[in-house]
Amino acid sequence: MKTEGRTALITGASAGIGATFARHLAAEGYDLVLVARRADRLQALAAELSREHGVRCELLSADLADPASPRKVAGYVAQLGLRVDFLVNNAGLSGHSKFVAAPWEQQAGEIQLMVTTLTELIHLLAPAMIERGWGRIVNVSSLAALAPPGESLLYSAIKSYVLVMSQSLDMEFKPHGVHVTALCPGFTWSEFHDVMGTRGTASRLPGFLWQQPQAVVREACAAVMRGKPVCVPGLVNKVVAAFTRPLPLWLQYRLGSALNPFK
Ligand SMILES: NC(=O)c1ccc[n+]([C@@H]2O[C@H](COP(=O)([O-])OP(=O)(O)OC[C@H]3O[C@@H](n4cnc5c(N)ncnc54)[C@H](OP(=O)(O)O)[C@@H]3O)[C@@H](O)[C@H]2O)c1
Repeated sequence: MKTEGRTALITGASAGIGATFARHLAAEGYDLVLVARRADRLQALAAELSREHGVRCELLSADLADPASPRKVAGYVAQLGLRVDFLVNNAGLSGHSKFVAAPWEQQAGEIQLMVTTLTELIHLLAPAMIERGWGRIVNVSSLAALAPPGESLLYSAIKSYVLVMSQSLDMEFKPHGVHVTALCPGFTWSEFHDVMGTRGTASRLPGFLWQQPQAVVREACAAVMRGKPVCVPGLVNKVVAAFTRPLPLWLQYRLGSALNPFK
């Protein structure tokens, strides 16, 4: 596939799954716009990828929990004279405390980051993709959106929004050559559990539950290119989704309440 002259914008590119998307898409020849808060990480990655793959790498340090950030990102892209062909809405995290104990500012920031900023970025960048008749959008949801709900603050609900919204937008955009895929990874090696403060519990989970981010990203990119609206990477995650999804809601509730290792 011809990727020369095409640009991918990846949010949360400073670590984990986002940095892996950046490496994968640079190897495919996409120029990159990397967005996250940690500029030093982005600079190191941009230097590595332009050296190894000869692609153009621009970076923007931005807090995507700031309501002004989507327009800041789109303005930066326009100022560079670039157009985004491939958007990876990946930046995310999960808090880890009781709902009433967590400050509202923290929870509002999570909603802004993973719901509003993610959605507004699509609203800002998709019209030009539709006009050109080609675009690819990966929204990183989670297996949490397909498995029984967890007592994990807003995370399951937020990722359910991302899953459903992606499918709805795919229906609208696909006739115009723009594919939208909700990526629903299970446990994936990254800094996610260090940030959440659950590394100790996570590292006691059996190894077969875990995937390397490279495998997740490979499957996600193949899925969005083929036009699959939902990608559940890895056999174990597919089995979990296939068995728990059809269960009655009362049983899902009980399973989610009993089996959550991070309570
Ligand atoms: N790892 C898993 O097991 C797993 C499973 C299912 C879904 N996911 C989802 O996968 C996505 C990527 O997570 P990961 O596992 O790769 O975790 P990670 O290694 O902790 O990376 C998270 C990325 O998000 C960025 N980010 C967080 N808050 C941000 C903010 N306010 N503004 C800008 N960027 C922000 C971080 O960059 P800075 O800190 O530099 O800003 C970092 O680049 C998330 O949406 C997560 O919910 C992960």
